[in-house]
Amino acid sequence: MYSRITGTGGFLPEKVLTNHDLEQMVETSDAWIRERTGIEKRHVAGEGETTCDLAEAASRRALAAAGVDVAEIDLIIVATTTADKIFPSTACLLQKRLGIHGPAAFDVQAVCSGFVYALTVADKFIRTGSAKKALVVGAETLSRITDWSDRSTCVLFGDGAGAVVLEASDEPGILSTHLHADGKYDELLHVPTGVSQNYDAVRQGRAFMEMQGNDVFRFAVRTLGKIVDETLAANDMKKGDIDWLVPHQANIRIIAATAKKLNMPMERVVVTVNEHGNTSAASVPLALDVAVRDGRIQRGDTLLLEAFGGGFTWGSVLLKY
Ligand code: COA
Repeated sequence: MYSRITGTGGFLPEKVLTNHDLEQMVETSDAWIRERTGIEKRHVAGEGETTCDLAEAASRRALAAAGVDVAEIDLIIVATTTADKIFPSTACLLQKRLGIHGPAAFDVQAVCSGFVYALTVADKFIRTGSAKKALVVGAETLSRITDWSDRSTCVLFGDGAGAVVLEASDEPGILSTHLHADGKYDELLHVPTGVSQNYDAVRQGRAFMEMQGNDVFRFAVRTLGKIVDETLAANDMKKGDIDWLVPHQANIRIIAATAKKLNMPMERVVVTVNEHGNTSAASVPLALDVAVRDGRIQRGDTLLLEAFGGGFTWGSVLLKY
């Protein structure tokens, strides 16, 4: 028994913030942001627009693409770092919106690796026969935890959601999944406030992302290089066997380094970071959806999905689309 992606969907909030808009907010320049990150613009949620709103829109598109009725869904996993409420989970809120009653629904918190983690968990539910049709979503409103006066972080992030329907199938499907984490690096990329620690900052609206950009960059490049090797070795595959790299969209330089490790021309890499910025758990499913809908990714293609994020967490999924 395999699990197979049968439909993808994506959604971006209407409001767009360009690099030129950011020039009016902090001391930065369009040229600096493009050169160091590859980002040109990002979408940000409007007033009152929530992670669940974005998740719902992306989910409905994925369900329509798969031709699956909501009543058939027997598992919902939402990867997010920016839940609507402290509880219940955004997956439960999404379940209510979709009018689904009964099947398991829960959030996965692995920051930018969240979707790769969630897809891995859903794959295991399906392979063991615990679910047949899963909705797996990555959705974020990172703009809510962005310090818009900090130029070292505010230029990097954006909001959005991506979703897939994952179904049980006799044909592959997901070939292998690889998850890792090392919590010793928590302080290099984090929001240092939460419910049981520094809650006052949350109350006062000062719960913001903090990052040691250089350290994160170096660790990400090294780690993603290693996970490429691990994934190929586990499947007895060569670099040339991958048709498409669908990477986490944090920085074009990190993406290019992973592509180089695979000897892959950039034409075989799905890049959305220029348009979306880093949408954390939403970035991989959003990129996948873009390349499926514009016809680049075709049924039967071999895809390598990979991500790196706060924790640190990192992981990959190798699949036949
Ligand atoms: N505009 C203009 N200048 C900026 C700036 C901005 N938005 N942000 C930082 N700078 C300045 C710095 O203050 C520094 O100035 P100094 O040399 O006078 O001290 C200079 O630019 C270089 O900063 P540095 O941090 O060395 O730049 P960098 O080339 O490492 O690029 C990042 C910074 C954040 C783009 C890069 O480190 C990065 O992408 N890191 C990984 C981030 C990431 O992916 N996080 C999420 C992982 S999921």
